[in-house]
Amino acid sequence: MNPDKSCLWGPIRTVHTISFDDGRTSKTQNRTPSYSETITETIEDGSYVFIFLDAKRNWIRKVIPGQKFHSNKGIIDFDDLIGRPYGLKVKSHSGIVFQVHKPSQTDIQISMGRNTQIIYPKDASTILIEAGICAGSRVVESGTGSGSLTWILSRAVGPTGHVYTYEIREDMYDGARKNLEKHASMDRITMHHKDIIEGIEESDVDAVVLDLATPWLLEDEVHQALKPSHFLASYSPTIEQVMKTCKALGESGRWGMIKTLEILMREIMVRENKTRPTTWMVGHTGYMTFARSLANDEHSVKVSS
Ligand SMILES: C[S@@+](CC[C@H](N)C(=O)[O-])C[C@H]1O[C@@H](n2cnc3c(N)ncnc32)[C@H](O)[C@@H]1O
Repeated sequence: MNPDKSCLWGPIRTVHTISFDDGRTSKTQNRTPSYSETITETIEDGSYVFIFLDAKRNWIRKVIPGQKFHSNKGIIDFDDLIGRPYGLKVKSHSGIVFQVHKPSQTDIQISMGRNTQIIYPKDASTILIEAGICAGSRVVESGTGSGSLTWILSRAVGPTGHVYTYEIREDMYDGARKNLEKHASMDRITMHHKDIIEGIEESDVDAVVLDLATPWLLEDEVHQALKPSHFLASYSPTIEQVMKTCKALGESGRWGMIKTLEILMREIMVRENKTRPTTWMVGHTGYMTFARSLANDEHSVKVSS
């Protein structure tokens, strides 16, 4: 059994074999498959599919028998997909060829944040690596926004970790809850509808990730919540925010190894004798500031001269 509900490549159903004293066995299927577990090698009734035409025209849809996918490039009958493998080429009724794939982590992340500013995959992956977020980590995050980063964090921490996310706005909190209930394992996420400046309820956490307008106001709160030597990751779209954050961290004297990164990603257009970077690229997303919490002064070792 794969207990990791958010594993895209997991099995569709949990099948338990019960053995009785007299040697009989019985197989049971004890629950309905979750969103991600419905993503199997074969498209089934209730599977989610990523319907791709090009980088701008793509959709995640649930396959429902008897229903159709409609777009201005034609209609696809879901009944034609059921029982077939992912990676299909499908011609719509108007002759346009679509690809039908399993939704990848990036497909889902981007689709969750379509109406809000989300942290791009290139930045989210840097946050995970630089802040040391992995299986078993307990992570505090704010703001929740669309829940897109919460979902990425919850996948990274796995079934033995936990994500505590804070969101001040009720509409964002409600929207994120809806997104997460559809996509994530809620047993590893605690959602607080709260201004994080009023206080972080958790302590001894392994990482804190901030994506909000005034991270510098949280220096003290974050330091209290973090284990010593663990990481704060703060994502900000402007240099002014980065400067205020680094100033607050530096002046407190409680943070080490403060650094700010920007990740630029270029796609390469591969053509015979014309291979080069594409003309357009995402010029700017945000800056990521990382800092490591120092233990309180009473633990410092005094070096005698
Ligand atoms: C840029 S969005 C976060 C996007 C998020 N990382 C995602 O992946 O969707 C910033 C969010 O922080 C929330 N926020 C701002 N200040 C906050 C605070 N003091 N406490 C909790 N949430 C806050 C905002 O309401 C907003 O939803």
